[in-house]
Amino acid sequence: MALPDAFAENSGSPHFATRRQRSPPPAGTVSIVEFDASVVAEYRQRAEPYIDMWRDAAPSWLDELELATAPPYNRMGTHSLTVEDWFQIDERQEYERSLRLRLVDERKNDVFAVLPTAEDAAIEVFELVRGWATARGLIGPSTVVGDGRHPLVEAGLLVQDDLCIMNRRDGHWRLDGAFVCFPSVWRLHDKLGLGMAAIHQPVGHHDELESRIDRFFDRMRAGNPVWRRNLSLKPTHALFLPISKAMMTSDSLSATLSATVPIGEDGSPYWIRSERQTLTKLPRTGAILFAIRTQIAPVSVLLRRPDIAEGIVTMYESWDEEMMAFKMADPNVRTSLLPWLRTVATGQPMS
Ligand code: HEM
Repeated sequence: MALPDAFAENSGSPHFATRRQRSPPPAGTVSIVEFDASVVAEYRQRAEPYIDMWRDAAPSWLDELELATAPPYNRMGTHSLTVEDWFQIDERQEYERSLRLRLVDERKNDVFAVLPTAEDAAIEVFELVRGWATARGLIGPSTVVGDGRHPLVEAGLLVQDDLCIMNRRDGHWRLDGAFVCFPSVWRLHDKLGLGMAAIHQPVGHHDELESRIDRFFDRMRAGNPVWRRNLSLKPTHALFLPISKAMMTSDSLSATLSATVPIGEDGSPYWIRSERQTLTKLPRTGAILFAIRTQIAPVSVLLRRPDIAEGIVTMYESWDEEMMAFKMADPNVRTSLLPWLRTVATGQPMS
């Protein structure tokens, strides 16, 4: 098929050919790149822009969190989406774009991978995202796109979302391509080529999800995209967290994600991290685009929203050990953050 103009010059280049022929790492094996805590620290963005953003207000997306008590522990939680809201762009875009550019330049193998089965869908993603951004005036006549980079990377740089391409092949919906700069404690190369059940295997009570996601994807139609939202509480604001849960037992890595200081009156050092996830069936290739927009705010924003603090603590308290173990990579969440949330919910000062 014809490439969009912006990428035409790549079609015959050795670089493009190499990428097409690159064989995937064996599914489910250890990542080709090992990480340590210093890597997370090296790419940790500044906290101030995100603290400033929420100095006088709580994020409106707190109202979109699905704070339900278990069981069930995992819900589909999908809502229909209009094309207007496909992506949400905010004033952090330039700042995050510079971090994503740095990551793709310096750690490309960690943030980007496309199997041959997803190349065509990657081009379709680029065309659709470019069309969406152009229609909203986000790309002007002088904007350079297709600067020798892969279409999926170029699409991801136009918005603030990480982009994953799912293909149905060999009986499963599989993660065949992705540009993911802000993974929330997982590694792209551990998941590449895997189906939904295998990808979600570390999730507490993952049996609730497995076949439901495949069935949901089968039923999806182009033109009917959906969104859902998740939530986690982390003692770091770092967006780039390419750490597998299996590696969390090593001291240096658990140090990265464990609060080593007592919790402050404002809940520091904890952060709320939430992904606004959208799912879109692509009309031409039939692949599914899973877009992940990661949003963070210091937990101090909950001082303005004690109702949300109550919802979070009630949900956490309804979980069994399996779910707690999955969600609480940092054991201090249980011993210090939950008691703090309870005091916020009841309006009592911490003793
Ligand atoms: C409607 C579709 C989906 C549902 C209902 C769903 C649900 C979940 C849930 C409940 C979790 C546990 C963490 C959390 O609370 O969010 C999770 C984790 C995760 N999901 Fe999904 N998910 C869906 C689609 C996808 C897709 C398309 C991908 C493709 C990349 C994906 C990749 C992941 C990964 C990598 C994790 C972390 C797993 C780990 O800790 O190793 N999910 N998902």
